[in-house]
Amino acid sequence: MNIPSFQYPQNPTKETVIECLGLESVYSQNLQRPILNGIDCRVQRGEFVALLGLNGAGKSSLLRSLIGLMPITRGKIVINGTPLSSHTLSPIRRQVGMLFQGGGLIPQLSVIDNVLCGKLGNLKPQHTLFGFPKQDRRQGIELLERLGLREHVYQKVYQLSGGQQQRVAIARALIQSPSILLADEPTTGLDVVASQQVMETLATLNYDKGITIVAVLHDLGIARQYAHRAIILDAGKVVYDGECDQLQDKFMQMVTN
Ligand SMILES: Nc1ncnc2c1ncn2[C@@H]1O[C@H](COP(=O)(O)OP(=O)(O)O)[C@@H](O)[C@H]1O
Ligand SMILES: [Mg+2]
Repeated sequence: MNIPSFQYPQNPTKETVIECLGLESVYSQNLQRPILNGIDCRVQRGEFVALLGLNGAGKSSLLRSLIGLMPITRGKIVINGTPLSSHTLSPIRRQVGMLFQGGGLIPQLSVIDNVLCGKLGNLKPQHTLFGFPKQDRRQGIELLERLGLREHVYQKVYQLSGGQQQRVAIARALIQSPSILLADEPTTGLDVVASQQVMETLATLNYDKGITIVAVLHDLGIARQYAHRAIILDAGKVVYDGECDQLQDKFMQMVTN
């Protein structure tokens, strides 16, 4: 997949699609503070944002909070203009795909069945007896073909390489046609080539399909190469929000402070 590196996708309206205002999560006795401790940030439609920070900074917690998997005690989250609440959680989850750390796939199931798991939330009672509708299966296969996995559709997931598995996880997140994709460490554990393939897949989705992406990354070089902007968290707060140019310096400042 060849993508031009780095032109910004079109976003003439600069519409905000993720907004966190004074976000505070549950208190942690261990940390003696809320895990997310007053987060303010915004992401605009079509952006590719790298979410960075040392281990334990709160990156996964922030992504989880955006789909209602981390209880919030203060502040608010607005997704595509809708405040997140118990009433709006289902529609919001259909708009936001999540790529969990480690992929979260079921190794013994086939690739296509793993992808269809992304549709489980939509399953009607009759489908539990007769399986997924044909059109879902077709859509899953098309997605896998687009992600370069045509030959692997019916293979078991455990038979695939790490990079291929991560692309299956991407297909599973995409089967709901989300407008936002959250990716928690999509390249961790992958070799350089597989990391690059996964990042290019994400960049293509961002560039060609206009999907807004927030990815937790550890490699500052990868962040600089693929992301338009970086948000750095430390101790549950945003400590940097801006260009990817001087990330190394920012990290050195954080570590030495
Ligand atoms: N469900 C939870 N209960 C208690 N503590 C948690 C929970 N989830 C995360 N934490 C703690 O919150 C902090 C941030 O975790 P996390 O968001 O996973 O960090 P990161 O992804 O940046 O490494 C860590 O200290 C972690 O131990
Ligand atoms: Mg994490």
